[in-house]
Amino acid sequence: MAVREIIRMGHPTLRKVARKLRKEEIVGKDIRTLVDDMVDTLHASGGIGLAAPQINESVQLAIIQIPKLGSRYGVLEELPLTVFVNPEISVVADAESAGNWEGCLSVPGLRGWVERPQHINLQYQDLDGVQHAREFTGFHATVCQHELDHLTGHLFVDRMTDMTKLVFEDLLVPEDAYPD
Ligand code: NI
Repeated sequence: MAVREIIRMGHPTLRKVARKLRKEEIVGKDIRTLVDDMVDTLHASGGIGLAAPQINESVQLAIIQIPKLGSRYGVLEELPLTVFVNPEISVVADAESAGNWEGCLSVPGLRGWVERPQHINLQYQDLDGVQHAREFTGFHATVCQHELDHLTGHLFVDRMTDMTKLVFEDLLVPEDAYPD
């Protein structure tokens, strides 16, 4: 287990489409170790999600853990540590969108206003290779989309429609940062 270096915007790995993992890889020792490293790295960074490409491993793997007691995003609904392998996302047809001041461990110091659909379906495998289908709504849907974007070479700045809303974190007024 180890805290790994998080690569930043500009590193080519963040712009690649990550490769899918085969069943025998998912249950193997190397991926267990990689997930342990990702958990350590996430905890050390104080973030709520991390995708494997962010530690320069271009594979379809992401983790999300939203603590009950809040984070730099304010007080949030808890999501226990969840590992997503080979995830596929689909937006529910009539989903409404909502905006958040998103940040990213690979884009340190900045926040950007991003609007995303608030109702998605996700298919993914767990670390035993078992397939899951789950629905996510609200902020959880936003976080899933942000993390899974990393697996297709996208960053939150790509999803912004108003670049005047790309700001330094320390200049965000708290009531703007947490609109809900
Ligand atoms: Ni990110």
